[in-house]
Parts: sequence; C-alpha cells; structure tokens
Amino acid sequence: MRHYHYGRQLVDGDDIQQVAESLASDFLSQGPFLEAFEEAVARYCGARHCLAVCNGTAALHLACLGLGLGPGDAGWTSPLSFVASANAVRYCGARPGFVDVDPQTMNMDPDLLERALERAQQEGALPRVILPVHFAGLSCRMRRIRELADHYGVRVVEDACHALGARYRGEPVGSCRWSDVAVFSLHPVKSITSGEGGLILTNDTRLYEAMRTMRGHGLAKGAALGPGTPPYHAEMVAEGFNYKICEMQCALGLSQFSKLDRYVARRRALAGRYRERLALADGLALQETGDQGFAESAWHLLLALPDLDARGLTKAAFHERLAARGIHLMVHYYPIHLHTLYRGLGFGPGMYPHAEAYYERAFSLPLHPGLELKDVDHVCDEILAALD
Ligand SMILES: Cc1ncc(COP(=O)(O)O)c(C=O)c1O
Repeated sequence: MRHYHYGRQLVDGDDIQQVAESLASDFLSQGPFLEAFEEAVARYCGARHCLAVCNGTAALHLACLGLGLGPGDAGWTSPLSFVASANAVRYCGARPGFVDVDPQTMNMDPDLLERALERAQQEGALPRVILPVHFAGLSCRMRRIRELADHYGVRVVEDACHALGARYRGEPVGSCRWSDVAVFSLHPVKSITSGEGGLILTNDTRLYEAMRTMRGHGLAKGAALGPGTPPYHAEMVAEGFNYKICEMQCALGLSQFSKLDRYVARRRALAGRYRERLALADGLALQETGDQGFAESAWHLLLALPDLDARGLTKAAFHERLAARGIHLMVHYYPIHLHTLYRGLGFGPGMYPHAEAYYERAFSLPLHPGLELKDVDHVCDEILAALD
C-alpha cells in the first residue's frame, strides 16, 4: 500500500550535484552560494535586500529585533499559525498578542485587526509590530493591513513562511510593498528547501544592515568600523546571534530555487484537482483562496474542513480510518494561544473562536510536488468513501 503524507521535499540529482560542488569548494560557510542565493531571491521578489539565515524562526526573530521590538512592547500575530510566529515576539522580551482569523481564508481578519487597534489605542497599548501570517500560502489582505499599520504607526512583518512563490496584487510575496519585512522558511515541506533555512526580504537598507550584523554575532569588521580599521579587526557592536546558514544549505536552496515556479505550478494543479473533486462533496468546506484575483496562493497546504458531526464521526476516528488506508492527514495548527506555555501567559479557550473552531474540524490533505493528479484522485476517493 502506498502511503501519502501532507508534505514532502522533492530533491533531484541536480540538487545533489550542487551540494557536492559546495562541499568541494573553498568555502563551507559565508561563501559564493550564500551571495548568489540571496541575490537570486531578492531579484525574484523585487525587494532591495535578501538575507539568508539558518531557519524561518531566526528570520522572524531578527526581523522583530531589527524593528526595535523589546521589553514593554507588544507584537501581534495570528493564533492560527506555527508557534514560531508568536515565539519570535517573546524572544525579544515583548508580549505576544493575537488577532483572530477570517473563517473563510483562515488569515488574520483585517476588520478584527482594526477593532483591536482602535481599542489598544484607547488603552495606550498599541503593538509595535504585527506579524500577519500567509496561512497555507495565501497572502493576507496586505493593502488593508498596511493602511491600518500606517494609521496607527505600527510596523509590519509578513510571516510568509508558507508563501514563497505566492503573489499578491500582481507581485511576488516578498516584494515588501506592503510591509517592512517579509520572512520565508526553507524547512523541507515548504515551497523549496535548504534542509533548514530562512530568508528575510526588505527594502530598508538600514534595517537590512542591522539584521545582517545580528546574524553574525553582532560583529563588524575592518572598514565597516571606520576608516583605517585594519581588515583583521572585528568588534561586537550590537546584540547578535549565530544565525548563519552554511554553503551546503545555500547550494541546495539555490538549486531548488531554480525550480520554485515549476513546483508551485504543480501544487496549483494538484490543488485545482482537489477542488474539482471535493467542491461538491456534502458538508466539506475548503479554504477560500481569494479567487477574486487579489492573491495567488503558493499552495503550501490544502485545507479541508469536513462536517464530521453530521456524520456521527469523531475527528480522531476519521483520521484513523484514512490512516488505515495509507492516507496520513495532518492538522495545522493547534491555535497558539491554547498551547500549555501560552495558557501560562494568560491566554486560553474562547479568546479566538474562529481559530478554535477551525482546529475542531480541519485537516491538511497530501499536497507536494512529488504527487500526480492520479494520486489526488486516489486520495479524494478514499476521503469521500471515509465520509460516506
Ligand atoms: C507560519 C510559520 N512561521 C514560522 C515558521 C518557522 O520556520 P522554521 O521552521 O524554518 O524555523 C514556520 C515553520 O514551519 C511556519 O509554518
């Protein structure tokens, strides 16, 4: 029996060859593959700067720090995300907050954001940063979010970890037209992978330089410290971390990047087939993906919300039924505010009902570029049979 998982990397012979070349080169870290990778991604996104780092979480952390987030501040994100979106705020010593999602798109609801900002202004508690998450690869309504952020003087970090290869209003996500910074993840199940890795895009040169210094221990070297400084002299001038990414990872990332549009197109075709096959199924909702034309998803995840109550099935029973047939569904995500650690910070059930209702019903179906249309047909047959 073939087994189907929600996501999986697709690594080919060219990728392996490029990694082997990096191993035989003079540099294992901070060499030409890093530079070429950063340049290629910046050009593709249409952003001035790209910084590659060791993972998406580090990328979010640097973005928040670079925007001055610190103790006494708040940073708001979506409760329906991976814990890293809110953890990045805590790593800065700031307090995380959440704005519930729109139950159609599963992205941060700009109307709720507006109300939350209004209230926060009255209470003198506006966040310094908001981190909208492009859930499952679908861009948030960034134009509206940007307008609100400008009105209230808030900085914007796009958590675009799911959305490399997506587009918004005709431009690639990562252009930073509507944000201060955008962040991608290169974890194995994402649009492309470098094993582990993250990318930070920005058009703000000072912010870029600050984040680049923090990526490398906060050290500055040679002429960067002032005219006449000898090239061997390095000094720690800012807070910093070792968030560097090595050449093997950049070699893999760069090779994968040359296939990004092809992989996203494959995901789109597979998602289209799912939607054709499942659209008419009784009591099975799919993510509303902005067919209005403002956004083209990168199709990181295919989200399905079957109405199991109406069929007298529990979520666990449905999951088990499909697993027995080789179809291993996943759920993204247990809402952040419900995690044990976040309950300890004062969050809890009932605070973000749309995210909570989503978790009660949702599954992520198998979707990755190693699948073919006939695989989707098989998965759909099994899902429809399991619902029957
Ligand atoms: C929405 C979101 N934000 C942040 C991250 C963190 O990325 P990484 O795993 O590369 O640290 C992830 C990773 O899964 C994610 O899905």
